[in-house]
Amino acid sequence: MSSNKEIKGLRERIDEVDQNIIELLNLRAQAALKISEYKQLNSFEIYDPVRESEIMGKIEKINNGPLTSYHLTSIYKQIISVCRTIQEPVGITVLGPKGSYSHQVASKMMGDSVQVEPVSTIEDIFTNVEKGVTPLGVLPIENSLEGSVGVVLDRLLDTDLKICSEFYERISHSILSKKGTLKDVKVVASHPQAIGQCRKWLGQNLNDVEYREVSSTARAAQIASEDPRVAAIAGEFNSNIYDLKVIENYIEDSPSNTTRFVLIGYKENRSSQNDKTSIVFSLKDEPGA
Ligand code: PHB
Repeated sequence: MSSNKEIKGLRERIDEVDQNIIELLNLRAQAALKISEYKQLNSFEIYDPVRESEIMGKIEKINNGPLTSYHLTSIYKQIISVCRTIQEPVGITVLGPKGSYSHQVASKMMGDSVQVEPVSTIEDIFTNVEKGVTPLGVLPIENSLEGSVGVVLDRLLDTDLKICSEFYERISHSILSKKGTLKDVKVVASHPQAIGQCRKWLGQNLNDVEYREVSSTARAAQIASEDPRVAAIAGEFNSNIYDLKVIENYIEDSPSNTTRFVLIGYKENRSSQNDKTSIVFSLKDEPGA
């Protein structure tokens, strides 16, 4: 068989498989819609993290390749995200602006179909969820280099909200610009902390540039999207949001900068029989406490 003929045959096969996939995805969506009726009748939360992690675990067990379980779980993240959204669009409050690490974590935990509501303070995350503006919120709770986020711990002590799930995110910085080339960079913009975390790479790769300190890494990405001379130090996630190219990923000095994020909501999750309990408490402020 000529290679052209072979490719034609393979493409026909792919078209056939795609048709089957679409039919199956719609069957799956119909079942999800039926479940939403049951959830609404019984006042159950649409977001069911226990069920979602059961599905992910099942995929790893039944997968025979050549796709890796990582490939399949990232596809399924989106499938579950859209099935959840047709059940009922789920809103999630994050520390903004758009493109922040909290926004990135919300997308990783809930898929891209989740409706993200960026706010400017941690307090606003709590009040948005307490008042029911969104059923869920993302909180950064502790960081491997900086320790606990005190304002989050203090506020957890006097709220009725519950932790529904958690996510460990490696805080990794990328350098992003409109052109995606190092030689065109005249200005580096970012939050001062992010600039500080990339000193080594910047010293080795970008001399004679102006440094512009701005309020957030996402704001830097926005500035870079408007000026081709500016490169932003920000999460790679921003390259999609602000249409930027990646000059280089993982430019931070320390690879162990990880933040633990938790998802908070009003309703308590059902038990997975394999849950983690987090306890917030304080000690007397005295020597030896
Ligand atoms: C689904 O299987 O589509 C599904 C599972 C759990 C959810 C939402 C959707 O929370």
